[in-house]
Amino acid sequence: MRRLAGKSALITGAARGIGLEFARAFVREGARVAIADIDIARARAAAAELGEAAIAIEIDVAQQDSIEHAITETTALLGGIDILINNAAIFTAAPIAEISRADFDRVFAINVSGVLFTLQATARHMIERGQGGKIINMASQAGRRGEALVAVYCASKAAVISLTQSAGLDLIKHGINVNAIAPGVVDGEHWDGVDAFFARYEDKVTGQKKKEVGAAVPYGRMGRASDLTGMAVFLASDEANYVVAQTFGVDGGNWMS
Ligand SMILES: NC(=O)c1ccc[n+]([C@@H]2O[C@H](COP(=O)([O-])OP(=O)(O)OC[C@H]3O[C@@H](n4cnc5c(N)ncnc54)[C@H](O)[C@@H]3O)[C@@H](O)[C@H]2O)c1
Repeated sequence: MRRLAGKSALITGAARGIGLEFARAFVREGARVAIADIDIARARAAAAELGEAAIAIEIDVAQQDSIEHAITETTALLGGIDILINNAAIFTAAPIAEISRADFDRVFAINVSGVLFTLQATARHMIERGQGGKIINMASQAGRRGEALVAVYCASKAAVISLTQSAGLDLIKHGINVNAIAPGVVDGEHWDGVDAFFARYEDKVTGQKKKEVGAAVPYGRMGRASDLTGMAVFLASDEANYVVAQTFGVDGGNWMS
């Protein structure tokens, strides 16, 4: 029995990386998936890879009209939304003395406002439809504690953990479960960007930071996007009906909650 048979899922930031791996896993489990991303060309390529169970949707989660349009389009094409994964996010790093207001505003517009207002618009749809739903927010181990060079991103992910708690408590009366996943260090294009920041600020050669963080994971290596799919499928399924407002670390042992 496929665990998400008959379900429809909207996954933001799914054109690549962890979101795309979630989309692959959800299709394997019988779901239809909207691959929603600001990079529509790449979202279309990803949807083509997944076949007729997937569609590509353009979304900029920092723009309210874009969120509303994406949800209307997804609902029209998939018949409704049972599952949302709030996965789109960006990373930035700088010492406190160099953080710019523009950078802060950009990160919070995508990582925090984007999560809240995509969640809100989807929850309104789910409430109106009356069939409950599952919402999964992508937090991070970075939301559990600050890091000297990563203040803005860490704060944005702490906000995601907090929003998951409040939304989880508010929406469970409608049968909507809101939970979050906090990955540790997951190899891919996102971490290529993180590595480049550390090369600049810690005077390292390209790839050095990745090696260091991978070696420091208790499991013994960096994560892979596929390490996260089991938790996502579980939280999206009926098996998680009694799981409310939680953030789960899937990080090889980096953080103990
Ligand atoms: N990779 C890691 O080590 C790691 C660790 C902890 C948490 N996370 C979180 O997991 C999630 C996925 O990470 P990833 O490694 O796949 O990241 P990624 O950078 O590879 O992918 C992010 C995707 O989001 C899209 N995106 C960016 N801005 C957008 C916007 N305004 N609207 C819509 N889409 C937008 C990008 O086009 C991209 O496809 C993120 O929330 C990230 O913060 C990642």
